[in-house]
Amino acid sequence: MRSQVVIVGAGPAGLMLGRLLELAGVETVIVERKSAEYVLGRIRAGVLEQGSMALMDRAQAGRRMHEEGLIHQGVELSFDGASQRVDFEALIGRHVMVYGQTEVTRDLMAARQATTIYEAGDVALHDFDGKPSVTYVKDGVTQRIDCNFIAGCDGYHGVARASVPAAALTTFERVYPFGWLGVLVDRPPVAHELIYAHHERGFALCSQRSPSRSRYYVQVPTDERIENWSDDRFWDELRLRLNPAAAEALKTGPSIEKSIAPLRSFVAEPLRFGRLFLAGDAAHIVPPTGAKGLNLAMSDVAVLAEALIEHFVERSDAGIDGYSSKVLDRIWKAERFSWWMTSLLHTFPETGAFGRRIQRAEFDYLAGSVAAQQSLAENYTGLPL
Ligand code: FAD
Ligand code: DHB
Repeated sequence: MRSQVVIVGAGPAGLMLGRLLELAGVETVIVERKSAEYVLGRIRAGVLEQGSMALMDRAQAGRRMHEEGLIHQGVELSFDGASQRVDFEALIGRHVMVYGQTEVTRDLMAARQATTIYEAGDVALHDFDGKPSVTYVKDGVTQRIDCNFIAGCDGYHGVARASVPAAALTTFERVYPFGWLGVLVDRPPVAHELIYAHHERGFALCSQRSPSRSRYYVQVPTDERIENWSDDRFWDELRLRLNPAAAEALKTGPSIEKSIAPLRSFVAEPLRFGRLFLAGDAAHIVPPTGAKGLNLAMSDVAVLAEALIEHFVERSDAGIDGYSSKVLDRIWKAERFSWWMTSLLHTFPETGAFGRRIQRAEFDYLAGSVAAQQSLAENYTGLPL
């Protein structure tokens, strides 16, 4: 088989890239290790920046998002009982949308016309400095796709970044000493907007997927085991970390999903190796506090799609030559913001009483400063490309 571009991974990055390219007449094949049902079963991000919403429209996949997505004009932050709403719309005239990654993925899958090979085993990348190809095993038979370019959109544990010689890659990493225990429940959200809460016992987040489905998280130690968290224990812990009004409004029920995600900051540089590009979680990880992971994946592939379209349609390589430095500039800003939100709101065992006073001062500064709130609003709703 031959295709102009082979995309490894059918998460939001791979599917969005594939859709933008196919609309511009560029051939793509997506090769995905898991089944479509498995990909759709993963509960992950929930907040879309305006840029990601615009991209869904450009991909002609935004209809359901506009019908069902919930526009949020601000968020609430709370810190040991004090609370502060940050009003994005009033501060900078922008907003975000609550629309789950599962739905984004479903819409992009439905819009896609070109081939996606699901349940592809042993995916391997070859000769991306010369004549690239991708091989995989399907139904016991090894298949090969020759191509002009490979896009590695296969997440943090994927094969694309791992195929790059170690000497060609620099990585930057910070692993946090905690994770997020998340619960999905068919009950109305505790409030109209998201609540990010700091408490001495640890961080908590009240999020949502729809007017009748909520998503909640609590900070837990990295080595925590999911078996130790009955639904009752989760709801009790969450209540303890919320302000009394929110705790009172919390509607609990049986969890329909429960999982623990570790928190990590990670960036690989550069993001182009000959005819191979990395995008999304294959290139970087942010801790989820700033709701940036999915949005960053979307903005990477928006730039990569433009670059590849420029190559095939306009016969110019300026875009692909500039891809890595262009996206890394924005990636590092999102890394900074995600690290900052994480540092402000979590409990860090190692920083002690001094660290907690600094966090409190940071929160009080935010509550009293329009400039600080504007900065949060600009970053949360998404920096320009
Ligand atoms: P992915 O969504 O990881 O997609 C990569 C795809 O590549 C997957 O379908 C995978 O099966 C496939 N793949 C992997 N290896 C191979 C291979 N060898 N060959 C072929 N295919 C392969 N962000 C938030 O903002 N909020 C959250 O609450 C949140 N929760 C998260 C929870 C978890 C457990 C994880 C892992 C991430 C979470 N994120 C969250 C981050 C966000 O979901 C990601 O940033 C986003 O999924 C990135 O999209 P992607 O397409 O780059 O990668
Ligand atoms: C969700 C996840 C986040 O990391 C975040 O910052 C906001 C919302 C969510 O899963 O709904």
